[in-house]
Amino acid sequence: MTIDNRMAQVAAGDMATIKDNLMTAYKEAFPDGAEPQVYFAPGRVNLIGEHTDYNGGHVFPCALSIGTYAAVSKRADRRLRFYSLNFPKEGVLLSDLEECVPGKDTKWIAYPKGVIWAFAQRGLELDCGLDICIWGNIPNGSGLSSSASLEVLTGYFLRDLYGFELTNIDLALIGQYSENHYNGMNCGIMDQFASAMGKQDQAIFLDTADLSYEYAPVSLAHHKIVITNSKVKHKLVDSQYNVRRQQCEEAVALLSGRMQLKALGELSFLQLEANRDLFTDEILWKRAKHAVTENERTILAVEALKAGRLEEFGQLMNQSHISLRDDYEVSCEEIDVLVEEAWKVEGVLGSRITGGGFGGCTVSIVENGAVENFQKSVGEAYSRRLQREAEFYIVEIGNGPSKL
Ligand code: GLA
Repeated sequence: MTIDNRMAQVAAGDMATIKDNLMTAYKEAFPDGAEPQVYFAPGRVNLIGEHTDYNGGHVFPCALSIGTYAAVSKRADRRLRFYSLNFPKEGVLLSDLEECVPGKDTKWIAYPKGVIWAFAQRGLELDCGLDICIWGNIPNGSGLSSSASLEVLTGYFLRDLYGFELTNIDLALIGQYSENHYNGMNCGIMDQFASAMGKQDQAIFLDTADLSYEYAPVSLAHHKIVITNSKVKHKLVDSQYNVRRQQCEEAVALLSGRMQLKALGELSFLQLEANRDLFTDEILWKRAKHAVTENERTILAVEALKAGRLEEFGQLMNQSHISLRDDYEVSCEEIDVLVEEAWKVEGVLGSRITGGGFGGCTVSIVENGAVENFQKSVGEAYSRRLQREAEFYIVEIGNGPSKL
């Protein structure tokens, strides 16, 4: 059996098997490599608080038990060798420390190289190269942060192997910095923060204005978190993401003529509405309205969850979807169909798009007894209405990065 087939058979949570297989793959890819260490960093799902993280607002994501793994060792010279079990056809990709330059890489190695570059930008230079073998079990392009998990993973093994003094929050910030400046995606801090700071069975209530955070237990005794993968990713995603961010900045500039304001997350909807007259551009108004109301919904949702008012939590998730669909316009037909069909199923507390948008996944809270029917009804309707196959994952909230 090839390594790739062996990996395909591994259950998501079976870390010991993954470690063994990854070590074997490492040795096959780099027969002359030194003995590797093995590391893991998780993906994330956001429960609520979408497109608020670059607006100084609140988010409520959690780390998943799926993520990205690496078997890594240092080299004696300055070369970098990469191999991914997810892209075996690409074979071993060669580079070196001097070649970590923004805007040059087209393949997946742009993420680890971006983090190496971002470390150097902080004065944390590597004194030798690496052999890196990667495998991840986050479905590609699903909006569950495979790239953030690879960034946090890279930061985590660099810290461990070179002995840098950094906190996990530093690793999140470095990951975001590399994504912004090496890969040109102007993302906020949510994904890297969730991956770096994840805790089993807890979601992270993060205020992106000052990075203060608290863990909130997600003890859903009678419910499951179900992720539905639309298996579409529209090309717009990065360009439109950056446009949304710019529109929010324009809204802040407009409002700044009248008040002291750094970010939309500082406003209540009442305060925004009192300045409605400034918004002659209807699109800008809708974008600002989403950013402000989504932040308020996130705060209310966490209060509801803490007080055990799950129905209310679900309603707020639904409102979040409507706002992302109609005001922020980051949904798409496939995702809207999945959410509409989820809303029809009995036992569904709430369902919404999750992540950056334009495809990817929805997240739904579903009663234990309704999960089977949920998959059947939503799956059948998706294929009937759009001739597409959805994929379903019942997820566990996992821990942040670790050395295995
Ligand atoms: C992407 C970005 C995050 C966040 C979400 C939307 O996942 O990487 O920073 O902005 O979109 O909430």
